[in-house]
Amino acid sequence: MTAEPERLWGGRFSGGPADAFDRLNASLPVDRRLWREDVRGSRVHARMLCRQGILSSDDGEAIDSGLQQIEQELADGDFRFAPGDEDIHTAVERRLTEIVGDAGRRLHTARSRNDQVITDTLVWLRDHARAQRELLRGLAEALLAQAEAHVDSILPGYTHLQRAQPVRLAHHLAAYVWMLDRDRVRLDAAVAACEECPLGSGALAGVGFPVDRETVAHELGFARPAPNSMDAVGSRDALADYLHFAAQLGVHLSRLGAEFVWWSSEEAGFVVLDDAYASGSSMLPQKKNPDAAELARAKAPRLVADLAGLLGVLHGLPLAYNKDLQDDKHYLFDAADTLDLLLPALAGMVATAAFRPDRMAAACRGGFLAATDLADHLVRAGWPFRRAHEAVGRLVRACAARGVGLEDAPADALAEAGLDGVPLPPLTAEASVEAKASVGGTARAAVLAELDAARARVAAW
Ligand code: ARG
Repeated sequence: MTAEPERLWGGRFSGGPADAFDRLNASLPVDRRLWREDVRGSRVHARMLCRQGILSSDDGEAIDSGLQQIEQELADGDFRFAPGDEDIHTAVERRLTEIVGDAGRRLHTARSRNDQVITDTLVWLRDHARAQRELLRGLAEALLAQAEAHVDSILPGYTHLQRAQPVRLAHHLAAYVWMLDRDRVRLDAAVAACEECPLGSGALAGVGFPVDRETVAHELGFARPAPNSMDAVGSRDALADYLHFAAQLGVHLSRLGAEFVWWSSEEAGFVVLDDAYASGSSMLPQKKNPDAAELARAKAPRLVADLAGLLGVLHGLPLAYNKDLQDDKHYLFDAADTLDLLLPALAGMVATAAFRPDRMAAACRGGFLAATDLADHLVRAGWPFRRAHEAVGRLVRACAARGVGLEDAPADALAEAGLDGVPLPPLTAEASVEAKASVGGTARAAVLAELDAARARVAAW
């Protein structure tokens, strides 16, 4: 048993909790980071109680100055947590009572930790999500800047990681900007899910005092009070929305990471990472490893697991508050912290990466990247596409057997494919990308239009 600290809920109990239970039950190690939101919420709550005549103005003043002192102690790192501080709410109220006595014991009038904790969490989530939006913008802008610098750099585009058709690097990089734009929509949806203030819902049924929930909601930055007290204390939809954003973004970042791992390999050699965004090997002196990109790949399953974890906690819970819900913040903070690490590192890695247009161009030559362009050429000359596809396929086979690229096809190979005497177009990567002038394609004009649209979209975030 612990020495007997005063418990918020002690009256009903004959003795203190067992140490083993206390360690399991306590959430302070996780939720202490909500101290700013908790003190802010308590000050707004106490002011409202005074205005409504529920607390005397003397008590209100004592509480407010006590909470300000606590805020200062927490900000300075001077706040001393006590063994009985189960969570941040308990710690603040315990300290307030130490400072101002009985006035502190009145703070929890018309409030439960059940409405308090989700209010604190939504305020934290809303503010954090807004800050994270800027990190997302940083990565989108790094991608856009590289795209704008590489409109005329052409590399093989892959399907099945087999060289398929040439594309502009700008087009390839911009694909990720569109993914991030959809992630931004999901992030905004999570912020929008934080609009209703739970405070004033009490433990589950509402409160028996004439509280002013409208003003409390507005002072804490919410649009309105939550309309159902049981839903307000028992739901975690906003967290699930945020974690869906984080999981989907994580998947996108893992794919970007995978590109950079491959592009920076000696085999591809399409990009050289800046020394500031790579690390070495303790044994192999020549190594320069794309760790940020690899970690981006590895974080995706963790972010997906955070979403799955929270939904797992929530599923099957009867209304209203259940202690299971205390575990929500573990997933929320893990995802938020992971993205806080990942987004700036990836933005820096992308911004400082040195692309190698020469290596990309070399990878486009001497192979079969123009095979579809040749088939398209035959189609324009009147061939049915399926016959053109067949003939070019035979030509690829004949060239592959001779170890030459399509552009160097000798006469006998052309004859084998039934293409002797057919005038061939220039089979360059430039001609290939320029032919893809359809909207959303990789021709220069289409890519420039796309980049303009992407720039405007990100500017409007
Ligand atoms: N630490 C708790 C949480 O994070 C606060 C609410 C506890 N409420 C209760 N009735 N035990 O969910």
